Amino acid sequence: MIKRPKIAIVGAGGNVGAAVAQWAVLKELGDLVLIDLKATAAEGRALDLTQCGAWEGFNNTNFVATDKVEAMAGADVVVMTAGVPRKPGQSREELININAGIVRDICKNVKTHAPDSVLIVVSNPLDAMVFVAKQMTGFPRERVIGSAGVLDSARFRTYLAMAAGVSVEDVHAIVLGAHTDKDMVPVLSTATIGNVPVSKFLTPEQLTKVVDDTKKGGATLTALMGTSAWLAPGAGTCLMVEAIVRNQKRVLPCSVELQGEFGVKDAFVGVPVVLSAKGAEKVLEFELSASEKEAFGKSVAANVELMTIARGFLG
Ligand code: LAC
Repeated sequence: MIKRPKIAIVGAGGNVGAAVAQWAVLKELGDLVLIDLKATAAEGRALDLTQCGAWEGFNNTNFVATDKVEAMAGADVVVMTAGVPRKPGQSREELININAGIVRDICKNVKTHAPDSVLIVVSNPLDAMVFVAKQMTGFPRERVIGSAGVLDSARFRTYLAMAAGVSVEDVHAIVLGAHTDKDMVPVLSTATIGNVPVSKFLTPEQLTKVVDDTKKGGATLTALMGTSAWLAPGAGTCLMVEAIVRNQKRVLPCSVELQGEFGVKDAFVGVPVVLSAKGAEKVLEFELSASEKEAFGKSVAANVELMTIARGFLG
């Protein structure tokens, strides 16, 4: 029998988990297991999504909605969105004391019940939570991947497109480094509009503003909505799920453990990877400008500091 991919979303009662599920259903990526601490929250999401089928025309997607982590058994992809979101005025880093324990406990279950899965971590503070997930599962680095670069790059491309008055589809740009307001690295040196460097269309002042807006992109939305964003985070994460279950070899910025690439070892940070059924099968290295290299180094240092704090929760 031909099997559909099994995608487990942990924290599916929350906004980001539900958004991932929504895009996954629309793209018919596979059968969905919605897991949440509150079974009724997962059940509600599943029922609500099922009822979209009448108009959105997706076929025969099976849902399981439960508070039982063992329902992820045999999942091809596990998406970890569990944890508390940011509140206005709060940094992602401040969430570590609550979320590290939550991510730790769930990852023990991922190791037991879905030992062959590719694990996508979305919980914040992102890079430190990828580290926790890697430590707790013992999975090879290609199967523990953080979702943040896709979101930050989407914001970067959007602000560039708005500044230039062009379609975002023709803007190509990536954000590397830490998923923090202070230390993420929007890479201007490789950013293009219609394959032409962005500096041909935007002034240095405009570019500085785009970079600033990108870095505080999450905080801006949190201030506007009273909680952190979920639609673009869900869309970006679902793009990663799609690349994996459809074995697409997409090149996307993701947080992984560096093993010498970009001159860094044993730190988790956003870099471009090739994303396929194997997970992050390859890190694509390239030369950053001098200032970007310096910013990337600061990102790594900030993440190592957070990893040190996270280590205290591994127990
Ligand atoms: C953001 C959160 C989800 O950047 O990290 O919106």
